[in-house]
Amino acid sequence: MNKETLILAIESSCDETAAAVVKNGREVCSNIIFSQISLHTLYGGVVPEIASRKHIEKINQVIEEALREAGHELREMDAIAVTYGPGLVGPLLVGVSAAKAISFATDIPLVGVHHIAGHISANYIENKDLEPPFVCLVASGGHSHLVVVKDYGQYEIIGRTRDDAAGEAFDKVARAIGLGYPGGPKIDKIARMGNPDAIHFPRAKVGESEFDFSFSGLKSAVLNYLNSCQMKGEEVCTEDVAASFQQAVVEVLVEHAIHAVKQYGYDKFAIAGGVASNSALRAAMKERCDREGICFYHPSPVLCTDNAAMIGTAGYYEYIKGKRSGMDLNAVPNLKL
Ligand code: KG4
Ligand code: ZN
Repeated sequence: MNKETLILAIESSCDETAAAVVKNGREVCSNIIFSQISLHTLYGGVVPEIASRKHIEKINQVIEEALREAGHELREMDAIAVTYGPGLVGPLLVGVSAAKAISFATDIPLVGVHHIAGHISANYIENKDLEPPFVCLVASGGHSHLVVVKDYGQYEIIGRTRDDAAGEAFDKVARAIGLGYPGGPKIDKIARMGNPDAIHFPRAKVGESEFDFSFSGLKSAVLNYLNSCQMKGEEVCTEDVAASFQQAVVEVLVEHAIHAVKQYGYDKFAIAGGVASNSALRAAMKERCDREGICFYHPSPVLCTDNAAMIGTAGYYEYIKGKRSGMDLNAVPNLKL
């Protein structure tokens, strides 16, 4: 392809209003993220109605900023990629409606993108040599999936969580030890000052599937531990609880992921999603992959949590394959990969 392909990408599935311009799939010309975190902290989690309203307020602004920072005009865009699921229906609708309105007014093709495909594709941005096939662990606030990426846009889910997602467990445990929302980054930070071997929390085994996860038992074990300390009048060392909980999550994620990579016979492994920015998880995955002779890939933290650049990358590979969405594109909160 001689001409460069420019994608305007929009992401609004949860509490980040984001827009980006991506060139030829892997070059990020701009990546604007308006985070609503401070707005939701007060309530201990994302309030969908508040998120939707804020997205409406911010969406045009982040799109204009993304184009301005990229130094491009809207008419130069080859396609508009937008997350249409999974996620919160109200927030998703804001991005989808904005993308459809721009596409309708300009005749620029519209490409609906799966949010998880976006997270996985974040790996292509900084790892220019990464090509499918590979195994990817997607660990975010809503999902914990082990995915075989067979080709661009072709995914097979080989493991999933039976209950809570990894990020959800981080958020719930953080709330229980008084750290507030969002829990992941806060636990990551204080765990560095704690002893990961101080308390032994269970590592869940899930029935017949060797690649599935379960985190609700671990979350309950932490809550039970906190309750029993309170009943006995013992002081809780939050740093130790955070470090021990984090180690339990990391160990399970590493074991399952490496087992999958070996079982399926691949030599490349990537991580994605908000939890992929966890420092202990990144270090443990790196160490284990080095030992096993597996090439390990991960995005920078800013590309792990929700952003539109990853949607632009995933959208690019859909676009060059000829995928186009119509004006009937709708938000699909439980969209399957
Ligand atoms: O991918 P993401 O931004 O949104 C979803 O698609 O869900 O992931 C957000 C999740 C939250 O649960 C947050 O607590 C978690 O990722 N997270 C982390 C870290 N940074 C974000 N979890 C552990 N350690 C982190 N450093
Ligand atoms: Zn996400």
